Formats: sequence, C-alpha cells, structure tokens
Amino acid sequence: MAIPLRTEEEIVKLREACKLASDVLVMIEPYIKAGVSTGELDRICHDYMVNVQKVIPACLGYHGFPKATCISLNEVVCHGIPSEDKLLKDGDILNIDVTVIKDGYYGDNSKMYIVGNTNIRSQKLVEAAQEALYVGLRVVKPGVRLNEIGRAVQQYTEAQGFSVVREYCGHGIGDQFHSEPQVLHYYSDDGGVVLKKGMVFTIEPMINAGKKEVRLMGDGWTVKTKDRSHSAQFEHQIVITDDGCEVMTIREEEEKEGRISRFMVNA
Ligand code: MF3
Ligand code: CO
Ligand code: CO
Repeated sequence: MAIPLRTEEEIVKLREACKLASDVLVMIEPYIKAGVSTGELDRICHDYMVNVQKVIPACLGYHGFPKATCISLNEVVCHGIPSEDKLLKDGDILNIDVTVIKDGYYGDNSKMYIVGNTNIRSQKLVEAAQEALYVGLRVVKPGVRLNEIGRAVQQYTEAQGFSVVREYCGHGIGDQFHSEPQVLHYYSDDGGVVLKKGMVFTIEPMINAGKKEVRLMGDGWTVKTKDRSHSAQFEHQIVITDDGCEVMTIREEEEKEGRISRFMVNA
C-alpha cells in the first residue's frame, strides 16, 4: 500500500487535530501532583476533550482500550491503563499519550511529566527521551530514507547509555489512527521507503534506563520493561515539507525553548 501524500486541505484539518491534542498535554500539567490518581488525570483529559474541545478521544474503545488516554508510570513503557488505584508519588515519572479525532482527522502526541523531584538518572532518562525525538525530527526531509530516523535515534540513545524499545514504533496517521509506514526507532533495513512531501507520521521513541526488552502484562495492554527499569517516551506528529518537516503537535513551551521549531528546515 502506498503512503498517502496529504493535500493542503487535509493538512489544515490535521493541524487543527494536532493543536487540540497538544493543548490537552498542556492543560493537564498543573494537575500532576503526588496523591492524584492516573484515573483522575484521565477523567480530566476525557472531560476536556469531550466537553470543551468537542473532539473524540481516539484511544477510548480502540481495539477495546478502556480509557481516553494512556498513562504510563515509571517501568511502564506504553499503553498504561489509567486507574483510580494508581496514585502518583514524589519522584514518579509518567507519560501521558493523547490522541484526538477532529472532523475525521487524527492528532497524536505524548510527553513525560515528573512528579516533584526525581533522581538524576530518571531526570537524565526523561531528558534523553525528549532529545531522542528531536534527533529524529532533525533528519527528516524529502529524499531521505525512513530508516535514517531510526539510525539517528538509536545512535543518540545508546550513546547516552539507554536502550531503544523494538516492539513499538511510530506510524502513519491521518484519517486512520495507525497506518503505514512503521517508523522504527532503531536501525533496520526497512525496504527503502523514501520520504516525500505530504507524508504524515509520528515519531515516538520509547527508551529504557536498563535493557531494551519488554513484557506485556496480563491485562493485555500494559507494557513494562522486562528488567523493571524506568522507561520514557515523547511523541510528535509531523508532515514532511519541501525542506524538512512541520511539527504539527509542537507546544508553545518547546517553541520558546528553541531546540525545535514548528517548521524544521533540515540540512
Ligand atoms: N497513542 C498511541 C500511539 O502513540 C496508541 C495508543 S492505542 C491505545 O500510537 F489503544 F492503547 F490507546
Ligand atoms: Co502514535
Ligand atoms: Co500516541
């Protein structure tokens, strides 16, 4: 199956969905404190999406997923199920992954949060997960092979002393949640997909403080590190432009910080 090249009209809709998805990650930040449950954070996100933004939370009911967001704490790699029983405590690190559907188009993104103060190693892990995503964003432009993303992300991550999860990857997205291409975060011969203007996909490396291996829990969703080391992930959705990419889910805090920009011009 060919990877669709999105029209300007579709990009306008995707940009809107992505802005709403990124707004949820900003909205929830002040609620993240010791003592709050991940179930409550999910409920706040759910109500904001449905009642304020009037969007559809894409995760809710997706292949039977029971909640509006994925919230992955500490050794949880991805697809953590929010729960009233899971209370945040000082030093926890967590990823909240939000995907919305607006007018039939998807916006998907995630980021890490730190509860109070955490140890240096977890701080470094969270920082490296963000930079791993940014390293990926800096290689994309028309004519570049898709597997250059994984090469760059893996090289950076391993140089920091962390490992890259193999089982989950970025993905094409648009009027479907998950489609081709699979965007690996490690180097592999991928059959030679070459990036073209108008392709839309996510980059969302999961990196572990310890070994790369993961285990699926008995609930059928929660993925943990096999060695129970901590894991971190950031995700952006992008569209390939003439000379780089547009980071469709960029947040204002990131634009101010200046390590990435909405319109990345890549050498
Ligand atoms: N948002 C996740 C992703 O980045 C997918 C979550 S699927 C769910 O691709 F069913 F677990 F919600
Ligand atoms: Co995604
Ligand atoms: Co996501």
